[in-house]
Amino acid sequence: MQAITRQLGHRSLKPSPAISYLKSIYPLSHHYYGADHPRYASTLTTKGVGHLVRKGTGGRSSVSGIISAVFGATGFLGRYLVQRLAKMGSQVLVPFRGSEDSHRHLKLMGDLGQIVPMKYNPRDENSIKAVMAKANVVINLIGREYETRNYSFEEVNHSMAEQLAVIAKEHGGIMRFIHVSCLGASPSSPSRMLRAKAAAEEAIMQELPEATIMRPAVMIGTEDRVLNNWAHFAKNYSFLPLIGDGSTKIQPVYVVDVASGIVAALKDDGTSMGKVYELGGPEVFTVHQLADLMYDTIREYPHFVKVPVPIAKAIAMPREILLKKVPFPLPTPVIFNLDLINALTQDTVVSPDALTFDTLGIVPHKLKGYPIEFLLSYRKGGPQYGSTVSEKVSPDAYP
Ligand SMILES: NC(=O)c1ccc[n+]([C@@H]2O[C@H](COP(=O)([O-])OP(=O)(O)OC[C@H]3O[C@@H](n4cnc5c(N)ncnc54)[C@H](OP(=O)(O)O)[C@@H]3O)[C@@H](O)[C@H]2O)c1
Repeated sequence: MQAITRQLGHRSLKPSPAISYLKSIYPLSHHYYGADHPRYASTLTTKGVGHLVRKGTGGRSSVSGIISAVFGATGFLGRYLVQRLAKMGSQVLVPFRGSEDSHRHLKLMGDLGQIVPMKYNPRDENSIKAVMAKANVVINLIGREYETRNYSFEEVNHSMAEQLAVIAKEHGGIMRFIHVSCLGASPSSPSRMLRAKAAAEEAIMQELPEATIMRPAVMIGTEDRVLNNWAHFAKNYSFLPLIGDGSTKIQPVYVVDVASGIVAALKDDGTSMGKVYELGGPEVFTVHQLADLMYDTIREYPHFVKVPVPIAKAIAMPREILLKKVPFPLPTPVIFNLDLINALTQDTVVSPDALTFDTLGIVPHKLKGYPIEFLLSYRKGGPQYGSTVSEKVSPDAYP
């Protein structure tokens, strides 16, 4: 009905002389902005959050009617998701627990008053309720791939998610609940984090059967913690440890695609409610191949040291043993993270019968190209210096 009204409204508008002129000189172009452009043809959902107040053309300064509380917005995926939400005129409530600087970069992504940082404490239920009070959409990105002295895997990846679902249910006005889990989440996973993620999914689905769950594969992008960590290590130590023989299969995905997937689910007509999506990139890599791609992009010769899994675990173990025993925080594990080593003992790829980007109408980017261009900053002598592994050019060749 809405579509018919929209079409009728669209047809009744007569193209202005300017538009007709443009059409006469650029007959194949579709980009005529003006009277004959379907300005109010918002793609916003009609069932999920459809009846909300909407104004404007759907850009940054319009009003989408979505007021989203994005828990975990201060992280890697958070910055891309907040940008997408703000860009379509949604208000974004940004709960933060750390310093005032943790959300500073997000403020610029929306118009004045669109991005609302709110101090909260994940262990204080009332502060969570205060964040959710005005929201009609809740998105949970909270998660961590290592334990700290204060927070266990189970608390961050499971209890916090469950708590958000319980509060969202009590709230009564939350129309969409989107939870970001992790590809490979399973109660039988060798990784504690992935087991906790699976428990969170189950708890959320019990509380809110209409929640949407996104399981992204390992995410790649400017602030990622895979290629950046590898490149740092390779630059500092001139080699890269490969856990096992590097033959584990993974399906890395561009972080921006994951943010697009979440927004697509939010904007649909409610079909994604109660569903689980597995978001992997278009290509499956072995860890070795991905590391090769990193070396290729930073223009260094690949030097790998293969570390057998038991030895890698032995290197990672002291942190786990000492974590709760010493009275000071221990360094964040980068390459030798026991839980990640356990996770890497299994392939983590999108299952054949899963709902994927395809269902959401998104074509994920290939990694080679723009998604990994940030690695240029690791090139010795600047982005233009050096050569790729396949075509070596000596520095003398430069004027
Ligand atoms: N990065 C990946 O490759 C990847 C792959 C698959 C799935 N995922 C999942 O996707 C989600 C987002 O990933 P991401 O890479 O954006 O994560 P991230 O950069 O580590 O950010 C995680 C967010 O969770 C918050 N958080 C962590 N521990 C918390 C705690 N104890 N209490 C309250 N908040 C806490 C962080 O807040 P602070 O800024 O205050 O620490 C941050 O906002 C996570 O659930 C992650 O498990 C990530």
